[in-house]
Amino acid sequence: MRQLRKWASSALFALLSLSASSQLRHLADRRRILVGAAVNPVYLSEPAYAETLAREYNMVEAEDAMKWTALRPDANTFNFTEADKIVAFAAAHAMKVRGHTLVWARHNPEWLEKSLAQDRPRLLHEHIERTVEHFRGHVFAWDVVNEALDEHGKLRPSIWSTRPDYVEQAFRWAHEADPKALLFYNEAEAENLGEKSDALYAMAKDFKKRGIPIDGIGMQLHILDLKFDSKSVAANIARLAALGLQVHITELDVAIASEKDLGLQAEIYGQVANVCLSNPGCTAIQTWGFTDKYSWIGWYTNHTKGDALPFDRQYRPKPAYQALTEALRADN
Ligand code: XIL
Repeated sequence: MRQLRKWASSALFALLSLSASSQLRHLADRRRILVGAAVNPVYLSEPAYAETLAREYNMVEAEDAMKWTALRPDANTFNFTEADKIVAFAAAHAMKVRGHTLVWARHNPEWLEKSLAQDRPRLLHEHIERTVEHFRGHVFAWDVVNEALDEHGKLRPSIWSTRPDYVEQAFRWAHEADPKALLFYNEAEAENLGEKSDALYAMAKDFKKRGIPIDGIGMQLHILDLKFDSKSVAANIARLAALGLQVHITELDVAIASEKDLGLQAEIYGQVANVCLSNPGCTAIQTWGFTDKYSWIGWYTNHTKGDALPFDRQYRPKPAYQALTEALRADN
């Protein structure tokens, strides 16, 4: 009897959480906005992971599987096997795929870090060409360059910056390899108005003026301190959109240190969604993962924070999830 009751209550719970969820993607379609999550192909074989992802999201992005470390075991090899699993999953569930990322200062294989500076432009051109061509027709938008600016908005020294025009060159090469793909510049901590976002804006404006093929700006939005300035972010989105650029929220997560902050976390999720929804130039809201079971935040904060995503470790929707659905449902 006790067993039966236990079974009945867990079946009821599953049913309730299913009807409470399965809304996000449906609501996003109605608002003509993309709602995405960064994913790891290893977990696609976990039924709850795959089911939640397919049911709730109309877009996916590779968390790590399209980075140089994953695609380029050595200078002569391209290994697309893992990344292709994401593309296949997306095709099977009518989801769009964002590509991330063709150029970054970090997460590069050792052989590349050790390569001669004079060889890197050629290596980069080849990497962009082969990768973008491989995913042509499957990846609708690329983060071409990631985090090229430092906190003052200056070009960050890296293996790439020995050639100072590498950012615009990367956009040209990506455009040649797939003229239909939307090309994004993705940046961290440039969401609010300020020195860094001013520099990013100036760069984007200059690119547009000179005909560098850029279509959008990715705002990462990793929120680690439970603070979000709606007005400032809205103004920043507005000025970028006025250049004719799209904005994607690309890596949203809201880290918390205690369960008591689940409510505040939800409020922030709602505010972010509202800011994006209130400007037609903001066309996608994506979180960095979707379940607290798998999130980089624990690792990144030395396990002082976590639980940053809309689903808990058992794939149950959290208040943050409800806040997202409420924002999508409201006509703002
Ligand atoms: C992170 C991944 O989540 C981790 O799995 C990996 O170990 C390091 O990279 N900004 C980015 C993302 O653009 O690519 C980073 O992803 C998080 C910060």
